[in-house]
Amino acid sequence: MIYARKDILGIEELTKEEIEHILDLASSLKEINERSIKKVPTLRGKTVIHLFYEPSTRTKMSFDIAAKRLSADTYSISVSTSSVVKGETFLDTVKNLEAMKPDIFVIRHSVSGVPHRIARYTKASVINAGDGSHEHPTQALLDMLTIREHKGTFDGLHVLIVGDILHSRVARSNIWGLSKLGAHVTLCGPPTLVPKELESIANVKVLYNLMEILPDADVLMVLRLQRERQKQSFLPSLREYSVLYGITNEKLKKAKPDLLIMHPGPINRGIELAPDVADGPRSVILEQVTNGVAVRMAVLYVLAQRNLP
Ligand code: CP
Repeated sequence: MIYARKDILGIEELTKEEIEHILDLASSLKEINERSIKKVPTLRGKTVIHLFYEPSTRTKMSFDIAAKRLSADTYSISVSTSSVVKGETFLDTVKNLEAMKPDIFVIRHSVSGVPHRIARYTKASVINAGDGSHEHPTQALLDMLTIREHKGTFDGLHVLIVGDILHSRVARSNIWGLSKLGAHVTLCGPPTLVPKELESIANVKVLYNLMEILPDADVLMVLRLQRERQKQSFLPSLREYSVLYGITNEKLKKAKPDLLIMHPGPINRGIELAPDVADGPRSVILEQVTNGVAVRMAVLYVLAQRNLP
């Protein structure tokens, strides 16, 4: 067994082999999503609870679809429909749900570290579906699967991540994963949003001038400005940000013809990404979403198989 952990909390703690094992498994499970009957009995009798205390379209839906395609029973709680609105703490909510004997919790929370705290408490497996600005491991796994499908290898590949790195759990998980797999990662954006200290990670470089580095990139990962996490003003104006760091077809004239354009979603169209780039021929944004289901099937599978008969 290559993945023997109880939980999936972050890419930082995973080995290269564990990451590759999940990507290989996701590749082999993808075919189920193309069948006319998209269901296999692998996780029959397993119970998955989604606890999303922050909004989500892609992650929540694809975890739910993934679990159902593996025949698990799924249940969902969001903050507005739980007893949290009556004053119950998150830990008390989890203790009560734990008493109903679930197998897996999928947790998204605005506070970094909440899934880790719950994982220490519960016997069930915990999957981090995004915690504050810390990590979003399954997003990075689906990004890495998409890159691997297009580029074949990570060795020497140049991945440029542009935008609000400071607040981005997607960036953090991708930085850990891509650097472990052998890619060179450059982080670019305004100095207020791109911490220079991240250069202490192997294979990671920080630059502030987009046009200096764009021509060298094989993959361009564009991030959303996380204004909901910005407690102070990090930018003189959105217009200035867009002029300097927004990705347009004009700027892409200097890029490699086979540059892959990615975005985890949701997109602020016209701010970090021009609509004709988001919908253009080099964009793989919807392929990322498709791969999200297979990656989440793989993650649910490796955790559930720990106690399959
Ligand atoms: N990429 C991502 O996490 O999207 P959602 O917030 O819609 O889940």
